[in-house]
Amino acid sequence: MQNFSFILDALRDGILVTNTNAEIEFVNTEACRILEVSPEQVMGISLETILGSEHIATTLVHSVIDTGRSAGASEQIVERRFGDDMLVQITVTPLLDARARMLGVVLALSDESMKSSLQRVAAEKERLTAFGGIASGIAHEVRNPLGGIRGAAELLGMQASDAKSKATAALIVREVDRITTLVDDLMVFARTDALQLELLNLHRVLDDVLELLAHDSLSRGMTLKRVYDPSLPEFLADRARLTQVFHNLCRNALQAMQNAPGTLTVTTRLGFHHHISKEGKRLAMVEIEIHNTGAYISEEMLEHVLTPFFTTRPQGTGLGLPIANHWINRHGGLLQIRSHAETGTTVLIALPLKRQ
Ligand SMILES: Nc1ncnc2c1ncn2[C@@H]1O[C@H](COP(=O)(O)OP(=O)(O)OP(=O)(O)O)[C@@H](O)[C@H]1O
Ligand SMILES: [Mg+2]
Repeated sequence: MQNFSFILDALRDGILVTNTNAEIEFVNTEACRILEVSPEQVMGISLETILGSEHIATTLVHSVIDTGRSAGASEQIVERRFGDDMLVQITVTPLLDARARMLGVVLALSDESMKSSLQRVAAEKERLTAFGGIASGIAHEVRNPLGGIRGAAELLGMQASDAKSKATAALIVREVDRITTLVDDLMVFARTDALQLELLNLHRVLDDVLELLAHDSLSRGMTLKRVYDPSLPEFLADRARLTQVFHNLCRNALQAMQNAPGTLTVTTRLGFHHHISKEGKRLAMVEIEIHNTGAYISEEMLEHVLTPFFTTRPQGTGLGLPIANHWINRHGGLLQIRSHAETGTTVLIALPLKRQ
């Protein structure tokens, strides 16, 4: 077995071999990654000890040992101690010797989280593209007359002799400006113009955003924390767009903590996200986490927060997160939101270090 282990280590599937007592006799590198164990830890140990007797993989292994017939299940969850829970496809086949006597079973675990997250991202993208088409169509029609209305209101204001009429004209101008900003925001979703890429020091961009927010009344009583990975290299990205993204996300985090001032933490690190290149290589990604304590988004609400105009704030337009998501997608990246009642809310962004 050991002689072939380097071949099995090269596989993208996690492989475990057990004897007929469901005790582990071999585990390859990918299986160790999925189960967060080392080969030394698990050798000779029963599968129950690692996955629990209730886990579908354990049940399947026992059924294959009993019946001698292969079995499998897809989209099963593996709960993990350190990493996120993982979605896997499980296949269990009997391991027979030359005389067809059962030696044990081979359990294959293949990571499906990437597939499902890519499917989700594709569906989300399609939805936003459709939305973008409608929104920008309307926005375009609304934007044109706005300039005319603003000009006319300004003229009326100048010609008016009484204070009340002047104030009314000024009110029209202000409201038109507010709508113009909203319409411009909406048109973002249909924008396909090229990003203005430049070599970027991410920490400088984040520092600028945090510096600006530190002077904002939103930050009163809050702690702003940075946990930067100093080894992060510069990479190509659109400075203005990323600034807008981080600004939206940090504002959200601060707004969410207004009732109970807490800590906003911005973390950066180099990671290998569930992103795979066309050649099948895992891509190095720059990961940025924006975390706030306290405020928590319920599971049900999480499904809606990326939808344009979803807001729970009286002054909110519900465009901050969708716009952030739009620009991260345009960079070939990924935006995910996680929220727990005890720990608060984290927005995780992964951006490709090298552009394809
Ligand atoms: N960090 C966070 N913690 C808790 N809830 C959040 C957080 N970020 C966003 N939310 C929730 O998601 C909703 C949508 O956020 P989004 O930024 O898209 O819109 P908004 O902040 O309401 O309005 P705006 O357009 O001004 O950004 C918010 O109203 C809030 O309920
Ligand atoms: Mg917002």
